[in-house]
Amino acid sequence: MTHEAPFAIHSESQSNTGFASSFGLRMSPEKNTLTGIMTGCGEMHKVMSVVEKVARTRSTVLILGESGTGKELIAKAIHAMSGRSGKLVPVNCGAIPEEILESELFGHEKGSFTGAVSSRVGRFQLADNGTIFLDEIGEMSPKLQVKLLRVLQERKVDPVGSTRSIDVDVRVIAATNKDLAEEVKAGRFREDLFYRLQVVPVTLPPLREREGDVELLAQHFLERQAAELNRPELSFSNESLRTLASYNWPGNIRELENLVERIAILSESDEIQAEQLPEYLSQVIRLPSSPVFDMALPQIGVDFNALVDDYENKLITTALSQTGGNKKAAAKLLGLNRTTLVEKIKKKGLESKIEVCVMSDDMAM
Ligand SMILES: Nc1ncnc2c1ncn2[C@@H]1O[C@H](COP(=O)(O)OP(=O)(O)OP(=O)(O)O)[C@@H](O)[C@H]1O
Ligand SMILES: [Mg+2]
Repeated sequence: MTHEAPFAIHSESQSNTGFASSFGLRMSPEKNTLTGIMTGCGEMHKVMSVVEKVARTRSTVLILGESGTGKELIAKAIHAMSGRSGKLVPVNCGAIPEEILESELFGHEKGSFTGAVSSRVGRFQLADNGTIFLDEIGEMSPKLQVKLLRVLQERKVDPVGSTRSIDVDVRVIAATNKDLAEEVKAGRFREDLFYRLQVVPVTLPPLREREGDVELLAQHFLERQAAELNRPELSFSNESLRTLASYNWPGNIRELENLVERIAILSESDEIQAEQLPEYLSQVIRLPSSPVFDMALPQIGVDFNALVDDYENKLITTALSQTGGNKKAAAKLLGLNRTTLVEKIKKKGLESKIEVCVMSDDMAM
């Protein structure tokens, strides 16, 4: 039997219709309209072929990746390719308080709590025969983790205040930018649920590790903006593309997408030059790999340990501020293991300083 993935690209010259091959060879944006996912990077092709394989099953998928790496887009692609007749129902577990989330997910009976003036169908039921996308699963409370485990094991939901369980046929996709294994170790996430969720884990590499993708995506987003602004001649100079490619993109594809939109709107020239890009992009390039201490020492001498300590603190807080508090990304920026960075932060008592610098960055945006 031959079957084609629904996103397959049809052209006279193409005989292979698999996801990875579609992505590997053909990059023009208009050809990927079903999933909207663009990539030319080998690591992402591997991810996409896992996505393609798992899409047609009912297996639970756990999508991991830093903020802005496309987790939601992948969830949509999996649902689109699943052939399931029901809807894709998204739930942001991090944005909804526990009590409300419980009734959102599982529904409730009339009068089951103050304010429950009528009964309500939960999102699991709404996703029957379809897919539920549990975003920011790492934020789910222990109580709801237990209830979710039951749904995954028995495919039944128990509405709040009801004595009767409802059968559901729902495919579960969960996503998080947290290190869930770490959350399990810290006792904040149930180990049994973790294993139930990560039947098929899909880890999205950060943009800085996707070779060639910054240029590809930047041009794709620019073409989209150019069409929107009715300025088809908008383009990037080679140097501006090089500058974009050399930045580390802590906010990943979302950061790139927003930046391109802003630059396209503001650009007076048709060809966008490197000088039009925000300074922080090229500052990163100018950062020496081993910053040199070039100050003469005062006659009275220095406190060596205190100076080294200050320098370390500054490096750590700067890295965290640049990565919006993301320890994994900050560790990468510093060339450290994540665990080494976490230990240093603890030992130096830097947690509160970090919060302040990440918050003040947010406010400046
Ligand atoms: N490979 C890609 N090709 C084209 N657009 C992409 C790609 N990956 C992500 N995007 C776009 O980048 C933006 C961020 O993607 P998405 O919301 O899926 O990320 P996320 O990982 O869910 O982020 P967060 O963790 O912050 O919720 C979206 O506008 C999405 O359409
Ligand atoms: Mg998301």
